[in-house]
Amino acid sequence: MSKFFITTAIDYPNGSPHIGHAYEKVLADIIARYRRLCGDEVFFLTGVDQHGQKMQQTADNEGVNVATLANRNTRKFIALWEKLGVHYNGWAATTDDLHKNCVQKILSALHDQGQLYKKAYKGFYSVRQEQYLTEKDRGEDGQFGEEWGEVVELEEENWYFRLSEHADWLKTAVSEGSLGIIPEFRRAEVLNAIERASETDLCISRPKDRLHWGIELPFDAGFVTYVWFDALINYISFAGYRSNGTASLPDFETLWPANAHVIGKDILVPAHAIYWPCMLRAMGFTDKQMPTLLVHGWWNIRRKSSEGESGGPEEKMSKSLGNVVDPAQLCERFGTDAVRYYLVRDIVTGKDSAFDLERLISLFNSELANDLGNLLNRSINMTKRFAGGLLPPITYDDDACKAVRSSLDNTTRDYRSAMDCYDLPGALKSINAHVVHCNQFIEKNPPFELRKEEAQRDRVLAILYHLCESCLHLSILLSPFLPEASDKIRRQLRAESRFKGHLENLAWGLLGPGHMTGKAKPVFPRIVVDEEKG
Ligand code: MSP
Repeated sequence: MSKFFITTAIDYPNGSPHIGHAYEKVLADIIARYRRLCGDEVFFLTGVDQHGQKMQQTADNEGVNVATLANRNTRKFIALWEKLGVHYNGWAATTDDLHKNCVQKILSALHDQGQLYKKAYKGFYSVRQEQYLTEKDRGEDGQFGEEWGEVVELEEENWYFRLSEHADWLKTAVSEGSLGIIPEFRRAEVLNAIERASETDLCISRPKDRLHWGIELPFDAGFVTYVWFDALINYISFAGYRSNGTASLPDFETLWPANAHVIGKDILVPAHAIYWPCMLRAMGFTDKQMPTLLVHGWWNIRRKSSEGESGGPEEKMSKSLGNVVDPAQLCERFGTDAVRYYLVRDIVTGKDSAFDLERLISLFNSELANDLGNLLNRSINMTKRFAGGLLPPITYDDDACKAVRSSLDNTTRDYRSAMDCYDLPGALKSINAHVVHCNQFIEKNPPFELRKEEAQRDRVLAILYHLCESCLHLSILLSPFLPEASDKIRRQLRAESRFKGHLENLAWGLLGPGHMTGKAKPVFPRIVVDEEKG
């Protein structure tokens, strides 16, 4: 059995989760469920990045204790993952003692190796990005751009990590592929950034008089650890690194390296593609022990035009613009299936997309309620009505039946190759192709007409069998995306125990002769928009 270790970025709980956060977790959850379906032993790690200046600032602004804020907001993230059916195996909260101990052990080891040094520095500092800026970060107009937020001039002593010592190694690791980067077009972006970002060393501390909310440096109590240096370590601390066999943690040796660090494009450079591999390298990780980064794009918002129509240009979602889409509310209104489906159906993995409520509704209504929902209903209902729910041994075959089997073969093949390269919308389209094929099969070979002739009885039974068997296969392929709906379909087919194996063994004939199907009940009721509510 192969192992598959998947992680996501850990979210800042300095507010409520929005659809961007939700997308990343649903994406990772679907990949995790798919790998399980392929027979892998999966460990899915996600969590929250609770330290840092952002958290301290939000707490100060709201007049609450920072630990209280972190805990309160962390609960919102956990509640959302539950609502969205995001099932993880490990929860990384950076205020957890086991993580703090691991970070401190790593810092001490790097300190002993001479990878860390202290020096005084005067320069400009971006409060939003929590990092020092260099002259190269100025825009063409000589100013620090909006992306840096508030920029202040600081002079202070700090601890530095000898990042620049690893720059040559990193260039080779990125260009030769030891550091996995998906999609491939992001690799060039990383190579361009290495030149710039790895010339200087990385400041890994913050003086406590400025920031108290962090992990104390084990060798200099006046400082806490820079939030990124702390947060990145979650990928190994919660995977059992240097844990001396703590029972609640996995076995690091067998789990590492991560098969996929699922992150957004904004945190690829410098954090994940520069700091992180250099940190790992300094800790003694080899080229073969470098992780793979799966970099997704962003869900943006289409700005409303002055007439209130949502056809304007795309803009970032942000609290200050007041355009944040709340995934919990979406789930309440449209159901978890609709939200999970839309979030991965209408964005190409790696690219951006603009959130569009009308698309969410129309994709659900056309592909799920109409196409798949109708197929399920008709198949199970007709089997009940025309065969008493019983599928006897099939004695009839013809070109139309053969075409159904071959369409399913194509769907399964295309689905697997799409999923293997993280093309989730591609996988959903391949599922839909078979659904459409089956619906046309019903139109061209209508059991409700054919059953009127006794001579066609075997043909009708073969048609019903092909439909029910197809529905079962479709529910299996759909299960990583819509686990609950998939279970409902299998229950209606009374086929919960018909397939326990791995995708590799998925083959025609799951519903053996004599199988009794159940009762049809709509799995995807159409979303009807109440005009009043909009
Ligand atoms: N705490 C850091 C990550 C540390 S990982 C060691 C962070 N947190 S975040 O809350 O700002 O973002 C968490 C994840 O959500 C990131 O991968 C980020 O790219 C993703 N997204 C945030 N907004 C997003 C969209 N609008 N769309 C898609 N993903 C987005 O960064």
